[in-house]
Amino acid sequence: MNKFFTLFAVCLLQTFLLKAQYNKLAIPDTLAGYYDAGTHVTNFPISMHESMTQFLPGNQTITAGFNDNTFLGPTLIFNKGEKVQINLLNMLNDTTTLHWHGIHLPAVMDGGPHQTIPPGTIWQPYWTVDDAASTYWYHPHLHGHTNEQVRSGLAGLIIVRDSEEASLPLPRRYGLDDIPLVITDRKFDSITNQFDTIQRYGDTVLTNGVLNAVDTLPARVIRFRILGAAQERCYNLGFSDNTTFYVIGSDGSLLNSPVPLSRYLLSPGERIEILVNFTGRANNSLDLMAYNDSLNKTTPGGIPYNGTSLPFLNNKLGHRRFNLLHLQIGSAGSGGYTTIPTTLKTNTFWNIADTNLSRKMVFVNDTAANIPFTIDSIPFQMEYINKTIPLNNIEVWTIFNNSSSGHIFHIHDIQFHIIERKDVSGNIIAPRAAEEGWKDVVFLDSGQTLSFITKFTDFADSIKPYMYHCHMLGHEDAGMMGQFVVVDNHSSGIKDINILPESAAIVFPNPATDKLFVELEDKSTSIYYITILDNAGRTKYMLPNPHLKDGLNIADLKPGTYFLSIIDNHGNIIPRKFVKI
Ligand code: C2O
Ligand code: CU
Ligand code: CU
Repeated sequence: MNKFFTLFAVCLLQTFLLKAQYNKLAIPDTLAGYYDAGTHVTNFPISMHESMTQFLPGNQTITAGFNDNTFLGPTLIFNKGEKVQINLLNMLNDTTTLHWHGIHLPAVMDGGPHQTIPPGTIWQPYWTVDDAASTYWYHPHLHGHTNEQVRSGLAGLIIVRDSEEASLPLPRRYGLDDIPLVITDRKFDSITNQFDTIQRYGDTVLTNGVLNAVDTLPARVIRFRILGAAQERCYNLGFSDNTTFYVIGSDGSLLNSPVPLSRYLLSPGERIEILVNFTGRANNSLDLMAYNDSLNKTTPGGIPYNGTSLPFLNNKLGHRRFNLLHLQIGSAGSGGYTTIPTTLKTNTFWNIADTNLSRKMVFVNDTAANIPFTIDSIPFQMEYINKTIPLNNIEVWTIFNNSSSGHIFHIHDIQFHIIERKDVSGNIIAPRAAEEGWKDVVFLDSGQTLSFITKFTDFADSIKPYMYHCHMLGHEDAGMMGQFVVVDNHSSGIKDINILPESAAIVFPNPATDKLFVELEDKSTSIYYITILDNAGRTKYMLPNPHLKDGLNIADLKPGTYFLSIIDNHGNIIPRKFVKI
């Protein structure tokens, strides 16, 4: 063997070994909360903090995470019908918000841009879980900073369980045959290993926060719950050997029956649940891939890399095919399933004939507003309510994408059902079978029109709005977002705010030790919000619709003087003071 050949063989071997260097897929911990038998509430302590994560050799990367995680957060487990209360502590050095994406809950608990949580503050939203079993997620929603905060790692999954799903023959052994996948990508600065702050299309895939992830799975039916967690990129999912997978769930519910596919275009913010039958395939290996080489240029992630300095053209995964997760199939093990069910549930959707109102909305390039894209040529403004929706309205929304780019529409509060899509020449494209279920995120390519039907049930609030926006985070931050209030009296949203005299509220005892009771003088209204601030004006507690019967728990406050800002249901503010001893 000559010297050169040996050298060549060694290099080849090294490349091969390097390629085979996979890292074990991380499975996020679950947090099912702590049930309080006295109040029948399940409590979820959640903290948000800055951190450092070792993604690459050399420098650690500055990241952020929830609870014990340096990047991303635990998977919250909610049961339908359960009362949940979140005790969120913001330990970041920045103001933030935390949004429950896809969850049906009151606007004041929704964690949108209006529920800003200053550093050091505890926010306590609570609600009764009313969503169908599916996969949801949580992430910050601070206007103008959503991308920055989500990019740093602030995102996590929510699994909602219900009795209907529990009775189906579906894998649900979390981390074993029910695999959560949070798929995103980042660009790292090549010298310091920090996340690139301009480029929203990464060149490195992170699957559950792991580079080159590998997982070993039993040779059984495997369920994957997949979240498109990219800042802007879509992933055209498929398996390297074209194994058929079965979509069983869309954003907000299981489908009526599994839909067999070999590709699924997953948008940022969107979730699907799929089943893959690996029975009889022990010792095989394959890859979950993004077949983004088949995307057109108007699909986020479809623009080819061209080495320019323009950030969105300079992404090496653009118009490429790349790996998301390497899979090794082990032995079957015990338990699990060997067949794909044929039916799942019966979803019933609203009837078009029952529509109370149709609305139209247009995505446009908006050079006038000096930002790339807006909805209806109105850049998002915190104090402007774009739409007022009567409670229980059944509405059809039709969205025209007249802009030069594809976008990803997302709406808070509700799940919708897609009625139809039209292509650029007005031809009807039947909704994809895998989009037949309940959705809160949908991709709309340039030139397309899409209609959906929905009903705005349960939660009316003329003070706090819900959002609708493009889920490409740069677009959202730049103002491709609007807001709506759901009202039960047909009156319009945000009113003038009056400051009432201190006598409008009764606060006792004062001084207080561990419980503080608050009542309003005017019994015809009730308390909408209480904020507790310390002597230096720092917010300590944000309590939307607080439970007042048993008093506010102030045991953890240090002794001193505190300020209360009490807001009633008319939006009036009553300032008060109390002393904690
Ligand atoms: Cu996932 Cu309004 O957000
Ligand atoms: Cu959302
Ligand atoms: Cu967009």
